Amino acid sequence: MELVHTVSWMKQIGGKALREDRVLGLVPTMGALHEGHLSLVREAKRCCSPVVVSIFVNPKQFGPSEDFSKYPRALGADRVALEQLGVDYLFAPPAEEIYPQGFRTSVFVDGLSDVLEGRSRPGHFRGVATVVLKLFEIVQPRRAFFGRKDAQQVRIIKQMVADLDLGTDIVVRPIVREPDGLALSSRNAYLKPEGRRAATVLHRALAAASREIASGELKAGHLLSMIQRTIATEPLVALDYAEIVDVDTLEPVMALRKNCYVLLAARVGGTRLIDNALVEQTGDAFRVTI
Ligand code: PAF
Repeated sequence: MELVHTVSWMKQIGGKALREDRVLGLVPTMGALHEGHLSLVREAKRCCSPVVVSIFVNPKQFGPSEDFSKYPRALGADRVALEQLGVDYLFAPPAEEIYPQGFRTSVFVDGLSDVLEGRSRPGHFRGVATVVLKLFEIVQPRRAFFGRKDAQQVRIIKQMVADLDLGTDIVVRPIVREPDGLALSSRNAYLKPEGRRAATVLHRALAAASREIASGELKAGHLLSMIQRTIATEPLVALDYAEIVDVDTLEPVMALRKNCYVLLAARVGGTRLIDNALVEQTGDAFRVTI
């Protein structure tokens, strides 16, 4: 695996792959890699060559009171894990390579960026879209791999790719969970043991909603109050929002129809966690994937 620190060298590698008509796969990450990231890398390895993983803790997607400075950084361990998976290039630029002095441009995906996570984290998705566009311009991937845990992020990136004719296929992979249901996240490392145990309530709430849907409940209001009641059983967990939204518009729905996300965000101590379930209509029935 070659370690690449500069934009100019990464552009040369990406440009060469493009000219040779190779299917370059990019897995963009902020490092502190866990099994969720590694599942994306495995999928990229299965269908792409070469595979590039980027590690860049993007300052522009953190608010002033968020955890940018303490966000976990583990380049040494990440490098070993990626090496073992046969990744071809690790792109780990310093901040000044991505945002040189005088950098002014940002990307804002209207209508999708200020709701849900965007309401709680103003500016977050502007930072995400800006860095992902930069990464796509630099690496020039044919395919890029993202996890469904960040459902709103994926929706915004897909919209940006369509609007700007970027031509990159966005591959979305399932949420990877601990055996007790907690969705993997680099931020889980912040949780103290009691918070870690309490955090499983997010998954329990989604599983309870899934059971209700399987027994025929379609009303969003009913499903959401059941989720709120379940989460309220854990005093260490403060719900930020629970919403059932259309997968395309991210607008709340009154009752399940077409395809929806059940989206949750909560604070466990000082740690903000998100989770979701995908609800898909198949004929008259709804299938829930947690
Ligand atoms: O999902 C993440 O880790 C980040 O938001 C991303 C896509 C790498 C952009 O910084």
